[in-house]
Amino acid sequence: MSQKLLLAQAYEEEAARRIPDTSRPKFHLSPYVGWMNDPNGFSYYKGEYHLFYQYNPYDTVWGSMHWGHAVSKDLIHWHYMPVALVPDKSYDSFGCFSGSAVELPNGEHLLMYTGVHKDSNTGEEFQTQCIAIGDGLNYRKYSQNPVIDGNHLPKGMSRSNFRDPKIWREKDGSYRCVVGGCDQRNLGVILLFSSKDAFNWKYESVLVRNDGRFGLMWECPDFFLLDGKYILLTSPQDMLPEGLEFHNGNGTLCLIGELDKEQKHFTNEYYQAVDYGIDFYAPQTLLAPDGRRIMIGWMQNWDTCKLVDAKNLSWFGQMSLPRELSVKNGRLYQQPIRELELYRSNKVEYKHVLLQGELSLNGIEGRTVEMEISIRAVDKDKLYQKFEVNFAQNELYRTVLSFCPYESILKIDRSFSGSRRACIHQRQCMVSDKKGELKLRVILDRFSAEVFINDGEQVMTVTIMTDTAAKKISFSSIGEVIMDVTKYDL
Ligand code: FRU
Repeated sequence: MSQKLLLAQAYEEEAARRIPDTSRPKFHLSPYVGWMNDPNGFSYYKGEYHLFYQYNPYDTVWGSMHWGHAVSKDLIHWHYMPVALVPDKSYDSFGCFSGSAVELPNGEHLLMYTGVHKDSNTGEEFQTQCIAIGDGLNYRKYSQNPVIDGNHLPKGMSRSNFRDPKIWREKDGSYRCVVGGCDQRNLGVILLFSSKDAFNWKYESVLVRNDGRFGLMWECPDFFLLDGKYILLTSPQDMLPEGLEFHNGNGTLCLIGELDKEQKHFTNEYYQAVDYGIDFYAPQTLLAPDGRRIMIGWMQNWDTCKLVDAKNLSWFGQMSLPRELSVKNGRLYQQPIRELELYRSNKVEYKHVLLQGELSLNGIEGRTVEMEISIRAVDKDKLYQKFEVNFAQNELYRTVLSFCPYESILKIDRSFSGSRRACIHQRQCMVSDKKGELKLRVILDRFSAEVFINDGEQVMTVTIMTDTAAKKISFSSIGEVIMDVTKYDL
């Protein structure tokens, strides 16, 4: 074990003791100490789910990238493990960037990550793909690293924007990985590689090109078959907005389509954002032993995270709730992981409430809750004008979800949710027009809200900084709304 690894492990263990549990989210993973970004190495190994993450233990801002590590039996409660990777080799001296994990036939756990180093003379950055092997606790870097470097790349592909390998094992026992890259025009490409043993890799093809459609570089690709369709997830940088589908800056993209196995080329038939809120980026999936495709994302975004005054915090960054994925009618659907239901308590239910103006309902409040809200107009020909749910609310604070059925737009507003910065605090999402009917499943943890819309057809995710004493939940409308609400404490 390197000195750097031992120091990091000793540091995090000691520093984490000073972070009270109540200052963290209750059931969303936050870093052991310091800073967290992308989920990495999300995998099921030896009876547990493993989640690694981009990690800077020494500060609450992005810095020298390590791989933090946590394990869970149910994807809800996480147990911290010692930091798994530190940037202690010449080929990863600038950081161990994002990557993924797979179990080898001999029972070992293989991590595949991007090693970043800079030329000491020119300062030019190089990104290569590297491997570490471990047993779920300790990982050692492969002696022949890097296993994929610039020499594997076809002419014209960037060697400095070449990162985030997502590895998987095919049915015949061979391996594939997709890696984000950039062509001569500085536009994202997803590159496909193959290997018989997960150590010796061969370049196969450009699986799909951005071609100027969605932002510039494409980060953190994932590629899998789901419900008979091929799905490519990626997180484009430098997006231009497109209606209410994509917002400016770093976004999330889901392409749904077909794979030409001969040409090793993917063509998309449908596209959509993965999340329509403010804080969701770099999602990664795993295939659970029971066949579920489960996705988790970084519950932040590069464009807004830097505006948080993280210097006074002891941790920064959270993971989203793991989500179960499915494809229906050319759309990606997401549902909160069903294991969450095991933690429900104190059910409170109201049916057919007539809402006209403002209303609070006895027993409906809290900051670690799940709420199912279903609304409709009294009369389909006489739509209400507006419906609102306020939560994390007291005299000073509120986070607001508002819905205008005439426009079919759902808006989330966290302007009054503890931020002292002038960054984005609102986002709007165009939902399916159901003549005033809307179903919301809202999951509140102490510092976040995830809103699953119309049975998971869309999701809006935001983080909030609101004082946890602000627990009130209230409803309001302009016009008459009929509402059913079920609330559980989590
Ligand atoms: C995405 C990303 C990845 C990279 C990592 C560095 O958020 O930029 O492309 O590997 O973060 O921390």
